[in-house]
Amino acid sequence: MKMAVVGAGIVGLATGAGFADLGHTVHCVDIDTGKIAQLSRGIIPYHEPGLEALVMRNTSAGRLSFGHDPANLLQEAELVFLTVGTPSGDTGEMSLAALWAVIGRLEAWSASDTRRIIVIKSTVPVGTAERAEARLRSRLPDHCLVDVVSIPEFMREGSAVRDFFEPSRIVIGTSSEETAERLTQLHQRLPGPIMTTDRRSAELAKLAANACLAVKISFANEIAALAEQTGADYPSVAHSLGLDPRIGPHFLAAGLGFGGSCLPKDARALVRMADEAGAPQTLVEAAVRANAMLPLRMVRKLEAALSDPSRRKVALLGLAFKPGTDDMREAPSLRLIAELNRRHPGITLTAYDPEANHVARKMLPSSITICDSAEEALRGADAAIIVTEWREFRQIKTDDFKNWMNRPIIMDGRNALDAAALNAQGIVCIGVGRLPVIPKELLRKAGELVPKV
Ligand code: UDX
Repeated sequence: MKMAVVGAGIVGLATGAGFADLGHTVHCVDIDTGKIAQLSRGIIPYHEPGLEALVMRNTSAGRLSFGHDPANLLQEAELVFLTVGTPSGDTGEMSLAALWAVIGRLEAWSASDTRRIIVIKSTVPVGTAERAEARLRSRLPDHCLVDVVSIPEFMREGSAVRDFFEPSRIVIGTSSEETAERLTQLHQRLPGPIMTTDRRSAELAKLAANACLAVKISFANEIAALAEQTGADYPSVAHSLGLDPRIGPHFLAAGLGFGGSCLPKDARALVRMADEAGAPQTLVEAAVRANAMLPLRMVRKLEAALSDPSRRKVALLGLAFKPGTDDMREAPSLRLIAELNRRHPGITLTAYDPEANHVARKMLPSSITICDSAEEALRGADAAIIVTEWREFRQIKTDDFKNWMNRPIIMDGRNALDAAALNAQGIVCIGVGRLPVIPKELLRKAGELVPKV
């Protein structure tokens, strides 16, 4: 089948290269000419495991190509995936500007009478596919047959390629039985259940999935805070919760909260859409509020462990919104840095991320020193905060923490380290939702009492 993908982000690239790998001919377009020039030279602009090999394999086999002008090249495609971004502002409203711009370009199809399927993969408010189809039908001549379908994308950054080939589910939202049949056949080679439904349900299924994950994480974080106050150990609580098949073990890790390009944006969009629809989503709204509080909570814990942070040097380990990606969009690190600077104007901050440093150099204020290694960030630091749970940080030796840091105080914002083992060796390691092994009194004064090494 001849396909086009519009929007060469992670979802677009993984989808395009994935279908090319299944034997289809795919043309990928993006208005960012710089990105297309890079892709044409085999450079992938994202850190995404397996994506480069997949793209290279299919471009050299001649099944995958790149361009920046959709108009002509789209003429040939029977199936077009729309994977453009739908960012949202503080009010939560999603911007569909990129999507409508592409729909506008598709009106150039007027010369053709092949039946086309347009698949909206971008996360969009309920009703968008119907509106897009109505708009195209009103502008295209009658002989142009076009179906606009919703197949939301559930792939995660950091495992986008694996999620393409092993999807948790494929949800096909369409009003046409014939299209449902064709798209079911197209996806049949992928494992994972395929379900068909109407377009509105498919669109809401995606927003609801992300909102549900957001609620689950915020629930985990609030129970973790309660564990801290009551002397319980949240990881044990989470383990027990996860053993209940009705709850499940995933998305119960407490820490600095959720970030990234989807969960925060989609949760806000759902709240906004629900308000307009007269069905307020109070739970999701509370989850978003709870998530926003976590960086401040971390700073307060740091203040309890380290006196006068304004005069100290604090190292941030990890900046990406989760391990396995270089994405810093809505990353908890950004809110944490803002909070540290707001409450402690003189603080010295160093930071290191195994993959996101190049993004951080563009996004963060120049007052923060971006370091090339964990060692460089930790040297002379009075405290460290584990912001993203990269495996590399788990491998730092106890003696290295002691040798490199001015005071070995670690705030483990992701419960990534073995706090008990570190505490036993004279390092103050404070996790999330865990009782510090050191007494509260000592903790309060740790900044002064932990000997300089
Ligand atoms: C998410 C959805 O998982 C995916 O289905 C959707 O298509 C896009 O949004 P992604 O943004 O790539 O994917 O990240 P995900 O792995 O879901 O993590 C989201 C955030 O939640 C991260 O910041 C992560 O650190 C945080 N998280 C995750 C927790 O704080 N605790 C957990 O237990 C799990």
